[in-house]
Amino acid sequence: MKKRVAIVGLGSRSQLFSKAILEEYKDGYELVGLCDLNQTRMNFWNSKFIKDYGQGPFATYAVQDFEKMIQEQRVDIVVVATKDCTHHTYICKAMELGCDIMTEKPLTTHADKCIEILDCRAKTGKDIRVTFNYRYSPRNAKVKELIQRGVIGKVINIHFEWTLDTKHGADYFRRWHRDKSNSGGLLVHKSTHHFDLVNWWLDDQPEEVFAWGQLAFYGRENAEKRGITRFYDRCYGSPNAEGDPFAIDLSSDENLKGLYLDAEHEDGYIRDQSVFGHNISIEDSMSVMVKYKKKTTLNYSLNAFCPWEGYKVSFTGTRGRIELDIIDNAYISGSDVDQNNPDHNMQEIANQGKLLDVNKASETLRLHLHWEKPREIDIPQGEGGHGGGDARMLEDIFVGNENDPLATAAGIDAGVNSIMVGIAANKSIEQKKTIKIDNLLNRNLYK
Ligand SMILES: NC(=O)c1ccc[n+]([C@@H]2O[C@H](COP(=O)([O-])OP(=O)(O)OC[C@H]3O[C@@H](n4cnc5c(N)ncnc54)[C@H](O)[C@@H]3O)[C@@H](O)[C@H]2O)c1
Repeated sequence: MKKRVAIVGLGSRSQLFSKAILEEYKDGYELVGLCDLNQTRMNFWNSKFIKDYGQGPFATYAVQDFEKMIQEQRVDIVVVATKDCTHHTYICKAMELGCDIMTEKPLTTHADKCIEILDCRAKTGKDIRVTFNYRYSPRNAKVKELIQRGVIGKVINIHFEWTLDTKHGADYFRRWHRDKSNSGGLLVHKSTHHFDLVNWWLDDQPEEVFAWGQLAFYGRENAEKRGITRFYDRCYGSPNAEGDPFAIDLSSDENLKGLYLDAEHEDGYIRDQSVFGHNISIEDSMSVMVKYKKKTTLNYSLNAFCPWEGYKVSFTGTRGRIELDIIDNAYISGSDVDQNNPDHNMQEIANQGKLLDVNKASETLRLHLHWEKPREIDIPQGEGGHGGGDARMLEDIFVGNENDPLATAAGIDAGVNSIMVGIAANKSIEQKKTIKIDNLLNRNLYK
């Protein structure tokens, strides 16, 4: 019998799941209900489902009818893809009503909500899968394999730098993510992926966290300090947004228009706010140190206003080093659009440098062993998003994988361990001291 799936949270991310259910995995699953606080967004998807897959429309439910949807539609699995700070409500309610869960990362945003989920899971025994797609990227899996096989001995230290560019990174400052109470800040919302990778690579649990963070680039005050004078609240209909490379034009894209511009009259969700506005409570530059139970240390940084996007991570072990260098996006094209930035005259100095070939292979995995010449390790390639990672993750969560030597499937423990680093880091920034994760959860989670 097919599993009956409902989706709560019908924003842009939901389509990863709806497409999988309506297309690739339709033999084993059926979509039976949609729930969101915005009816226009649900209607948008229903029209698309009919057009693209010849299926639907599916029953839609307002948020106060979530329980009714589960009962009326006899739901087996709930996909949770709402705003981060609301995940726990739906995860717990759905488990209590007998459903299994597939939830988007982050599992939740705060320690008390995390405890609620753990308690509810213990009470109901239901299954929770957290969709950590980064684990399934071939390059990250290759690193896991090398470490798991002990190629560099015991890993003593990890240096991990993640750069978000001025397109992707800026997007977190245009909408709900910019309010820390919604997203937990980037240390929870975004770094949950990165901390999960480290936890998984090491097969270890984070114990103590120290962090420092600031809003150094986005936000009105920072822009004013750099001499920017043209401001606006949102892009749509604002003459000052014209030519601003940080502006996003919602009317230029069918999905952006249908999901957000045409839907905002219902809930006031403005998707194209200026990244140089007021009231941004998240950081854009963060540094974190983590000590693991087996004594490995991690030095991590995340900057959200970089000219290129990717990451560099190095593992120092007792037998050698692994170094992974990734450029996902070499640069953001913007020629002379940044006119009101007075630093523009620095261009003369920049022009003296030789232009690099931005199409060059951007994945490098190097192995340095003591007393041996360094080697470059091949990274297998796959089709689709994240080097085939997205497709592999969907196969894993919708079909399962008996043969999983790298323990790639992520359950609730992984969800908890990754967010708790970010939550502890937020606390550390606030209190300017080292935070023990077990103290935040008020118990030893790992027993
Ligand atoms: N794994 C990944 O790489 C990845 C990528 C993007 C987003 N995500 C995650 O997916 C989730 C959704 O992100 P998105 O980009 O689609 O955001 P979005 O803003 O496009 O969509 C969020 C949806 O949730 C709905 N919503 C908000 N509060 C709600 C509530 N209380 N009850 C019911 N619905 C509510 C909104 O109306 C909206 O339709 C987030 O948790 C995000 O972290 C994961």
